Amino acid sequence: MPQILSNATLATMVGADYGLIAQGSVVMDQGQIIWAGADMPAQYADMPVDDMQGRLITPALIDCHTHLVYGGNRAREFEMRLQGASYADVARAGGGIVATVTATRQADEQALIASALPRLDALMAEGVTTVEVKSGYGLDLETELRMLRAARALARLRPVRIVTSFLGAHAVPKGFEGNADDYIDAICIPTMHAAHAEGLVDAVDGFCEGIAFDIKQIERIFEASHELNLPVKLHAEQLSNTGGTQLAARHGALSVDHVEYADEQDARALAKAGTVAVLLPGAYYTLHETQAPPVDAFRAAGVDMALATDCNPGSSPMASVLLAMNMGCTLFRLTPEEALRGVTQHAAKALGLKDCGQIAAGLRADLCVWDVAHPAELAYRIGFNPLHKRYFGGLS
Ligand code: NIG
Ligand code: FE
Repeated sequence: MPQILSNATLATMVGADYGLIAQGSVVMDQGQIIWAGADMPAQYADMPVDDMQGRLITPALIDCHTHLVYGGNRAREFEMRLQGASYADVARAGGGIVATVTATRQADEQALIASALPRLDALMAEGVTTVEVKSGYGLDLETELRMLRAARALARLRPVRIVTSFLGAHAVPKGFEGNADDYIDAICIPTMHAAHAEGLVDAVDGFCEGIAFDIKQIERIFEASHELNLPVKLHAEQLSNTGGTQLAARHGALSVDHVEYADEQDARALAKAGTVAVLLPGAYYTLHETQAPPVDAFRAAGVDMALATDCNPGSSPMASVLLAMNMGCTLFRLTPEEALRGVTQHAAKALGLKDCGQIAAGLRADLCVWDVAHPAELAYRIGFNPLHKRYFGGLS
C-alpha cells in the first residue's frame, strides 16, 4: 500500500531553484518514490495521506566524505596547534594521522564500532541516510580490514547506508619512513586486493600531498584500482598544489576532495571529466586555513560541488552536515542552494550513486521532513536542528 506525504513544500533538487514545488506530495511504495509533484494523480486521491502541514521535504542528506571509524582522539594535538604548531608540523613530529593509526591498531572491531556509533547517530539525527566511511588509520592488512568490517557493521546496526572507501594511501606508516614506494607494493596494494575480495571496498581513495604520497605513487594505486574495476577518488590540493586534481581527473575519478589549492586549470579538468569537487569546510576551519577553494572557478567551469563533514579525529572533528552546509556558505560563499545540492544530488554523484540525492519517481524513498518553510533555512542557522522526520527506504 503506497504511503503518501501531502501538503508539503518539496525541494526536489531536480532543476533550478531547488526544484521547488509548492503544495506538493510524495508517494512512496516498497522503499521507493513512485510519484512526486503538485497535482496528485487520481489513482492516489482516495488513499490516506500524512499531512505535513506545510513543512519542507528534501532528499535525505548524504555525508560523502568521512573517516568515521577510528581509535582514540587527538585533543592533545588540538592544543598543540592552538599553540602555533601547524598540521604538517604535528604530522612530522609523529602526531597526526600516524598517532590515530597507533590508537586504531590497538582497538578491536567491537571497540571501533562502539566509538563510531555516537558519531553516526549524530549524523543520522540531522537526517543523514548515506555515509561514506574511509579506512586509512590501519595502514597494515589486519587493521585496514578491521576498519572496513566495522564500517560495514554500522549498516547492520542502524537504518543507514554505508559506502566504503579503501584509503590505504593515507599516510606512510612507521617502519616505511622514506619508503613510500615499498609501502605501496608490500602493504597497500595487497591489502586493497584482500579487502576487495571480502567485498569491503566500494571505491579507492588516496592522500596526494607533500606529507603523504606524490602523484606517481597515487597513479600506481589508481592503476591497481582500475584492474579491480573499483572507482577512484582523491584527497588533493589540501595544503598545496601537487597535481593530484588533474591526475584524478585523467583517471575519471568520482571526486577530488578538499581542493583549497586547486586552480582554474584544475577546475577545467574536473569539469571535463565530470569529477565532483568535494569541499570540506570543517577541515579548513579546524586547520585555520586561509586559502579557500576556488569556488568561482568551479562555477565558471561547471564543476559539480559537494560538501561533507570530513568527520575525523584530527583535521575535522565534526559530526554535523548542517554545520558543514553553514560553513560552506559562510566560509566558501556557496549559496544555500549549492550547499543543499552539495549534500544531496552532488554528494550522491561523488559516491557514484544514481538512486538517491533527489526527489523523483524511481529513486529510493530517502527523505527528510523539516520544520522550516524554505530550504535556505537549512544552511542559515548554526547549531540548530530543525529535522521533523527522516525516511530511509520509506521507513521512518
Ligand atoms: O581529510 N587529509 C588527510 N586526511 C584527513 C585527515 C585525517 C587526520 O588528520 O586524521 C582529512 O583531512
Ligand atoms: Fe579526509
